[in-house]
Amino acid sequence: MSAPASREPISALTDWWTAMGVDVDEALVEALLAAAPEEEAPARQAVKAAAPAPRRRGVRSADDWTREAARLSAEAATLEALAAAIRAFEGSPLRAGCEQAVVYDGTPGAGLMVIGEGPGAEEDRQGKPFVGKAGQLLDRMLAAIHRSRSENAFITNVNYWRPPGNRNPEAEELAVCRPFVDRMIELTQPKLIVAAGGVPAVSLLASKDGIMKLRGNEYSYRTAGGFTAPLIPMLHPAYLLRRPQDKSRAWRDLLLIEARLADLEG
Ligand code: URA
Repeated sequence: MSAPASREPISALTDWWTAMGVDVDEALVEALLAAAPEEEAPARQAVKAAAPAPRRRGVRSADDWTREAARLSAEAATLEALAAAIRAFEGSPLRAGCEQAVVYDGTPGAGLMVIGEGPGAEEDRQGKPFVGKAGQLLDRMLAAIHRSRSENAFITNVNYWRPPGNRNPEAEELAVCRPFVDRMIELTQPKLIVAAGGVPAVSLLASKDGIMKLRGNEYSYRTAGGFTAPLIPMLHPAYLLRRPQDKSRAWRDLLLIEARLADLEG
């Protein structure tokens, strides 16, 4: 970047961005102002004043976006309204790199809610959770305990946008989704939540322990709005694809889930 001879071109640039409806790139403006001659300090004020009200990611803090997610969630009176709010939400740092938000699949109001980690490439393409190889294995695991999306299982994730390269979602990415996750639980009132894998289990339980320690036990999850449900962590089907020798552990997870659902659904 070469230093501008005066600050005038900088305000011209931000005026043009504003006219085009583009968010002002604050970092670039700061860098240009730092490089421009000092005597035009008022130009900085003009540039600031010209900046449109922050709307998109990048000009709002992560906390602002999390508050916005909480506000939108509280306003959503139905699952459809909540899904529409999630799809329109611009606060996830992951959104720009994705095809679409992946919100939920299955039967709303089912006793069983499975919460996974977040969409991969296939889910991003189809707009549905757990539809790749791991999802097909999840369907077979659920079928073994007489559960299916079409009848008695609801499936979602702790993060709705595909992270690049299938990496785990980061804390900030999970935090902006949490109000939506909580509201989805409140609107569908599951009898039992199953956290599929370490990411949702550790995040929902705010635990320092990993999945190997958490699985095999039952916990309680309380949403921000005060709805409480039992939560059982289980091994993620993608992990089982990599480590089929752990299938007997997964089977024990499923038997625990089936037994608890029998109690809870009476
Ligand atoms: N893995 C997950 O945790 N969620 C999905 O939706 C797909 C794969």
